[in-house]
Amino acid sequence: MNRISSGIPGLDELIEGGFPESSSILVSGGSGCGKSIFGLQYLYHGAKDKGEPGVYITLEEGSHNLWWNMQRFKWDLLPLEKDNLLKIYKFEPSDNLETSAKDQIKRIVDKVKEINAKRLVIDSISAFTFWFSDSSKVRSVLYSLIEQLRELDCTTILTCETNGKKDTLSMFGVEDFLADGLILLYFFPPNRSMFVRKMRGTNHDKSIHPLSINDNGISINSREVVLWEAIKD
Ligand SMILES: Nc1ncnc2c1ncn2[C@@H]1O[C@H](COP(=O)(O)OP(=O)(O)OP(=O)(O)O)[C@@H](O)[C@H]1O
Ligand SMILES: [Mg+2]
Repeated sequence: MNRISSGIPGLDELIEGGFPESSSILVSGGSGCGKSIFGLQYLYHGAKDKGEPGVYITLEEGSHNLWWNMQRFKWDLLPLEKDNLLKIYKFEPSDNLETSAKDQIKRIVDKVKEINAKRLVIDSISAFTFWFSDSSKVRSVLYSLIEQLRELDCTTILTCETNGKKDTLSMFGVEDFLADGLILLYFFPPNRSMFVRKMRGTNHDKSIHPLSINDNGISINSREVVLWEAIKD
């Protein structure tokens, strides 16, 4: 199995070298736990260090947060955009209430095909629900999206908003079953941490590890373990 490196120092060694190629990985957590930075770093690393084209689709954040992150982390995305190694799109959920979920999936898949992207980030999948009149559709729509991306050999990170509690895996309780991998990000001030809850086809690490965010982006301390009991409810 081919592995796709995450670009997060300390993470790949916990998951046998990287994400399984063509898999979809859910990155779940509460507000401010680092989901967007995680996704952007994954794409920046792929484009810059591996020459792997990536697409970032944001459904919620103004471009100001992306811009702040780029500047602080000194990630020069513009040359990568010019070389078709990185494309950033902001989808406006409110514009698309009449558009069917099927059309939205097609829109995403078309963006991937346009630059033959190997990597995709959808930030966040939770905002998808703007597009559904009925939230029970989440499961079938997400299933369809994940299957189509798999056929394109695109390795995808779907960020997912939760209430941030340690036992909460996803927003609707279905996304985590559909994804091939699940990474939980925790932030119980002042401590940040990360836990690989599942990674199909992988003998992954089973411990919680400290996570830090500084001017170089996100990194994981794979040698240090955080006790489950040390994480608050
Ligand atoms: N240069 C930096 N150094 C240290 N910490 C930083 C830096 N840049 C951002 N952060 C921290 O990262 C947090 C935001 O991370 P990010 O935007 O990825 O979170 P998120 O999980 O996507 O949040 P949301 O749920 O609001 O979308 C900030 O609240 C801040 O605490
Ligand atoms: Mg975010």
